[in-house]
Amino acid sequence: MNNPWQEINLDTYENHMKSEAVFQLQTLNQITKEQCEGYGHEIVGILGVAGGNGLDGIDLHTTNKIYGFDINEDYLAVCQSRYAYMGNTLELVQCDIRDHSFTLPKTDLLLANLIIEYVGDASFVSFINQNRNHVGVVSCTIQNSQADGFVSQSDYKSAFDPLLSISHTINAEKLIHLFANENFSCLKTQAYTLPNGKTFIRLDFKKS
Ligand SMILES: C[S@@+](CC[C@H](N)C(=O)[O-])C[C@H]1O[C@@H](n2cnc3c(N)ncnc32)[C@H](O)[C@@H]1O
Repeated sequence: MNNPWQEINLDTYENHMKSEAVFQLQTLNQITKEQCEGYGHEIVGILGVAGGNGLDGIDLHTTNKIYGFDINEDYLAVCQSRYAYMGNTLELVQCDIRDHSFTLPKTDLLLANLIIEYVGDASFVSFINQNRNHVGVVSCTIQNSQADGFVSQSDYKSAFDPLLSISHTINAEKLIHLFANENFSCLKTQAYTLPNGKTFIRLDFKKS
């Protein structure tokens, strides 16, 4: 069975995410920039890269390789054409990170912004732990869904109804606990408030 993300048009997704009241695309763009500036890296990986939001914030002078991973190959095709100027530095990989046979290439910095919600906290931490020899810093962003529902209000909201079948509410303390059980310590947490009252929480982890 297809993952519901494979049924959502990229324009619909991005128009929803960047609408004034939602403002998540813009906020994630800024978070990606801060994540990349925060940790020296030569190889960066982005789980759930979608159309490449935030890739523009990566310093190509210091980054040798950028991997973008996503389950939706149409998103990756758009990402490829938007960032064609990056040449071989950018490598896009169609994958399902819930698939246990999928192995990550080595990265110094791995970003997971708004994807844990669609995989589940325990499955995500297990995936990272299976790849622990290939990861340095893992920087994640989760959403606090208490305000405005799991999917924020916008003219496009109904297009996201199929996602509810795979959506998980992620709790920051539980995520820290699950990572700690695998000997990853939390380096930093930072909250970002969105216009509709939702909050993004960024959590950075590294093997202890
Ligand atoms: C909310 S978007 C991510 C936003 C993006 N990281 C940003 O900063 O703007 C979630 C992305 O994760 C992808 N995705 C969801 N589940 C996935 C899975 N199991 N494996 C790989 N990609 C997945 C979706 O196709 C979608 O592009």
